[in-house]
Amino acid sequence: MPIFPADIFTEPSDVDPDTLANLGPLRRLAGSWEARSGVDLAPKPDGPERRVYIERVDMVPIDPQANGPQLFYGLRYHTHITTEEEDVTFHDQVGYWLWEPATGLVLQTIAIPRGQVAIAAGQATPDADTLVLTATRGQTEYGICSTAFLEYAFRTDSYRIELTFNPDGSWHYVTDTVLTVRGQTAPFAHRDENRLVRVGEAVANPLQRILAAKSD
Ligand code: HEM
Repeated sequence: MPIFPADIFTEPSDVDPDTLANLGPLRRLAGSWEARSGVDLAPKPDGPERRVYIERVDMVPIDPQANGPQLFYGLRYHTHITTEEEDVTFHDQVGYWLWEPATGLVLQTIAIPRGQVAIAAGQATPDADTLVLTATRGQTEYGICSTAFLEYAFRTDSYRIELTFNPDGSWHYVTDTVLTVRGQTAPFAHRDENRLVRVGEAVANPLQRILAAKSD
C-alpha cells in the first residue's frame, strides 16, 4: 500500500499548466488515431466470434488535476469502432488516461455504454515503451462495475491492457477482458487488438491555450 501524507488537503502551489510537457509515458498518445485492422473475439451463443474492425481514437489533453497531494496530468479519450460490413457502432468507449509524475501511477478509466465502468492501473517510467494496466472485479480501487444484467449474464471478472509504442510513432494495444458467460463453464477470453496510426496532432490543454493567448 502506498503511504499517503497526513495532510490530505494542501495542493501543490507550483503546478505546471502545460499538460503536454508533463504527460510522461502518455505524451505519445496525444492526438487523433485511426486503424482499419482491429480484431475482436466476442462471445456469441455458438462460440467465439472473430470480427475485423475500424477504429478511431481521439486523445485530448485536459488541465492538470490536483486533489490534495495527488496531481494527475491526462488525456480525455473517445474510442469509436465500426466495421466494413455494418454502419452501426460496434464498440464505443470514453474515459481518461492519467499519469501521476510523483509516483509513476498510470490509470485508464473506461466507460462503455452497455452499462459498465472500470479503472485500470499500472506503474510506468516517463519514457516507458510498454504500458500494462489491470482492473479486477470486486476491487474497490481499481475495479469493474457493471449493470445487474451484465453481472447475471456476462460477468466481467478482469481487464488488462498492454499498450506498446512503436518506433514509427504508431502504437499497438491488446486488451484481455475475462468474462463469465451464464451457462458456460470456462471463462471467455474477450480479446481486442489493434495498431493505431496518427491522423491528427496533439493540441494544448485549455489552460495552456488561454495563457498562451494572454501572453501574445
Ligand atoms: C476494442 C474493444 C472492444 C470491442 C471491439 C468489443 C466488442 C464487443 C462485441 C462485438 C461484443 C458482442 C456484443 C453483442 O453480441 O451484442 C462484446 C461483448 C462484450 N464486451 Fe466487448 N468489446 C471491446 C472491449 C470491451 C471491454 C474493454 C470490456 C470491459 C472492460 C468489454 C466488455 C464486454 C462484455 C461484458 C460483453 C458481453 C455483453 C454482450 O455480449 O452484450 N468489451 N464486445
